[in-house]
Amino acid sequence: MTDRQALAEVVPRIEQCLRNDGGSGQVLIINNSGTGAYGVFPEPSINAIEGVMALNMDAPVALTAALLPLVRERGGAIVNIASTAAFQPTPYLGVYGATKAFLLHWSLALNAELKGSRVRVLAVCPGPTRTGFFRAAGLADSSVRGSVQDPDAVAAESLRALALGRSLVVTGWPNKIGAVLAGLVPKRMVASIAAVVLKSYRRQPDRG
Ligand SMILES: NC(=O)c1ccc[n+]([C@@H]2O[C@H](COP(=O)([O-])OP(=O)(O)OC[C@H]3O[C@@H](n4cnc5c(N)ncnc54)[C@H](OP(=O)(O)O)[C@@H]3O)[C@@H](O)[C@H]2O)c1
Repeated sequence: MTDRQALAEVVPRIEQCLRNDGGSGQVLIINNSGTGAYGVFPEPSINAIEGVMALNMDAPVALTAALLPLVRERGGAIVNIASTAAFQPTPYLGVYGATKAFLLHWSLALNAELKGSRVRVLAVCPGPTRTGFFRAAGLADSSVRGSVQDPDAVAAESLRALALGRSLVVTGWPNKIGAVLAGLVPKRMVASIAAVVLKSYRRQPDRG
């Protein structure tokens, strides 16, 4: 959801749903919606890129701000779905990776601010996962290869991390190792390596 008006309309409806359930249970907010826009900047278009920023950053910030009083009142958690892209520059998906770095750092900062309250914040960083993401972001179908997780596995690991009171989870062992390595290698070097890999993910124009 990227439209400010739509956001303003949906918040009272969510609050109403939550209050209708008896008003006593804890509240879990999951900011999951997100998309990317593959290309050499500003491809595919500045509109598409602004849409990525609005969906991946503005919407979770606005929704969380609006619903936080209710979560504080009843206790609960905010789960932000970031990405392993948050740990490194992602050429050809540069703005996408930067939005996920934003989401990761904001989640960790918010969790620290809320220490001592009844609200926890968890940043989830999945790696490649079998969903419609690649197609929606304009990547080739062949980029879904190697160590790819199923969404169920990502969800299960996220819920375990939440139960353990973690503030960050990188799902899947290959992704955990990748995130650690991305932190050890100089960022400009990671950018060069990622450029070679991500360049090969360009979707070829449909023929016929
Ligand atoms: N798949 C991966 O490899 C991967 C890896 C790391 C992180 N992630 C993150 O995981 C999250 C979920 O993505 P996914 O993998 O499930 O991809 P997906 O299959 O493309 O789903 C994207 C989700 O975002 C919603 N969405 C897209 N544009 C929207 C808009 N303008 N307003 C409101 N909702 C919108 C979609 O809603 P509709 O179904 O209603 O269109 C859908 O629920 C994203 O934040 C993504 O960045 C994915």
